[in-house]
Amino acid sequence: YNADTKGMLKALWELPEQCARAWELGMAADVSPLDDLRQVVVTGLGGSAIGGDLLRVYAAQRLDVPVVVNRDYVLPEFVGPHTLVFAVSYSGNTEETLSAYAQAREKGASLVVLTTGGKLGEMARNDGVPVITVPGGIAPRSATGYLFIPTLAVLYRMGLLPDLSHEVAECVSLLQSMREELKPEVPRDSNQAKMLAASFHNRIPVIWGSSGTTEVVAQRWKGQINENAKAPACWNVFPELNHNELVGFEFPGELLRRLYVVILRDPQDHPRVQKRFAITREIMEGAVAGVVEIMARGSDALARMYSLVYIGDYASVYLAMLYGVDPGPVRVIDTLKARLA
Ligand code: PA5
Repeated sequence: YNADTKGMLKALWELPEQCARAWELGMAADVSPLDDLRQVVVTGLGGSAIGGDLLRVYAAQRLDVPVVVNRDYVLPEFVGPHTLVFAVSYSGNTEETLSAYAQAREKGASLVVLTTGGKLGEMARNDGVPVITVPGGIAPRSATGYLFIPTLAVLYRMGLLPDLSHEVAECVSLLQSMREELKPEVPRDSNQAKMLAASFHNRIPVIWGSSGTTEVVAQRWKGQINENAKAPACWNVFPELNHNELVGFEFPGELLRRLYVVILRDPQDHPRVQKRFAITREIMEGAVAGVVEIMARGSDALARMYSLVYIGDYASVYLAMLYGVDPGPVRVIDTLKARLA
């Protein structure tokens, strides 16, 4: 392995401990309960935004207020004194997030910042905004634990979520056992992530989740394949895709043979959605290179989401290795940011 691959594999190996540490960081944050909170907004981009979606999905059944994820310069109109805004940027220098942070301040929202530092960290400290400083040195997308789990602890500390320390502990121990199956030393025929990478190789992965817990994971897999393997991928969600995307699979010719479909499943998927998986699979089989279903593990939704995230993260790094690319650097994003400067 080259240095970037080693670094990415190390970050993956350490994800369980990252999640445990992330809970502690959130518990230590300097926050206090808010009166009459009406919405939670997570503003960030790329690897710093996906944690917002994990929160949105995970908190859906547990929070009395909606969670909205903002991936833009501009915050939604409703943001105001009754909104809690988590401004998240691993580098602390993403211009869209800096703009949204400034807007949140103007609108009188309560803010909590998650970052390694950068301009965002500096601005927040000068403004007296609580900052959760997370460890640097890894790719932002490898830091989902640091960028998501502290938000659960903060919402608990504000009296908005129950104490989730047991759920975090379950997630940590599940990931610790899973990494023994997914690590590079485990050969392909017993390593689910390596098998997936081999199936994706020279094909376009199409990742489908359901509007329960796996929707966000499908999006995560797509992003990880893009950024780590430097390869295209698509994602969509049941039942919506049964009303449009499925029709595209009637396309004649060889094009569809380049697609490899993954259906991410959760034992708690709606029974009608489970039926849709089976019928959709029957319709598609033969048209595409392959269809595989992957079931989430664990009892709590946090563990179930992360079990699937973990498999996809490892698969994306193994795919990078098959393509002979470095999973770490995202030069095209750096170039784009530099050209915008
Ligand atoms: O994972 C990545 O490298 C990107 O998706 C970044 O997260 C994205 O460009 C935003 O940067 P940052 O996370 O530093 O705000």
